[in-house]
Amino acid sequence: MTTIIQPDARLLSAVPFLKPGGRCVDVGTDHAYLPIYLVHRGICSAALACDINQGPLQSAREHIAAAGLEGAIGTRLTDGLHGVEEFAPDDVMIFGMGGELIVKILDEAPWVRNPGIGLILQPMSRAAILRQYLVSHGFAILGEGLSRSGKIYQTVHAVYCGKNTAYNEEELLLGRWNIETNPPLFADFVRHERTVLEKVLQGKARSQTADTAEEQRMLQVLTQRLEKLES
Ligand SMILES: C[S@@+](CC[C@H](N)C(=O)[O-])C[C@H]1O[C@@H](n2cnc3c(N)ncnc32)[C@H](O)[C@@H]1O
Repeated sequence: MTTIIQPDARLLSAVPFLKPGGRCVDVGTDHAYLPIYLVHRGICSAALACDINQGPLQSAREHIAAAGLEGAIGTRLTDGLHGVEEFAPDDVMIFGMGGELIVKILDEAPWVRNPGIGLILQPMSRAAILRQYLVSHGFAILGEGLSRSGKIYQTVHAVYCGKNTAYNEEELLLGRWNIETNPPLFADFVRHERTVLEKVLQGKARSQTADTAEEQRMLQVLTQRLEKLES
């Protein structure tokens, strides 16, 4: 008997951006629920599940074996995308890490600057830093996803095109695609981001010396967008 764990909406947000039948890499795979689901369902033909830590990779191996998918899903103990190029992926997924770490991983793997490789990225924080990196290093952001699994998560789909794009502060913070298309979870997402920011500002208000200029600007951007969404 094989065991396949159904991924939650956060992980499933990768699916619309994957090339059907392609080869995918999951960086920071941990439990490997995502590549197992994708290969089991035939959405991907093969996967490489990578992690920098032995413990998560061992858990990935056990879940892959329980799913009977050792023939189609390899595992690799590695930092980011080092040594992964030879797998020749069609898509690279990096989920569940901070935006700055995702940037570091991409920057250390110049081979992903290839129009044939899709990047599917889920920053748990600092999404604006990730978008800024992408649009100023020749990547085009082709789409965005919002998914609710408890809180609302952002998924960014990018591909290298060799041309930089100028994003304004709001587009960096919320995603140009989200602003232009207003997907169903967007207003809730902006509202949540504003609440988080207000809490940060309340915390900083207790310290007389804290610089709040950036947060104040972000708060203004979020408030203005919410007013437009609610009008
Ligand atoms: C919070 S878990 C996310 C697991 C899964 N991707 C998800 O979204 O549910 C982060 C995983 O990334 C791994 N990780 C952290 N830094 C990494 C790096 N530089 N390269 C590869 N994996 C990394 C950790 O060991 C951990 O298993």
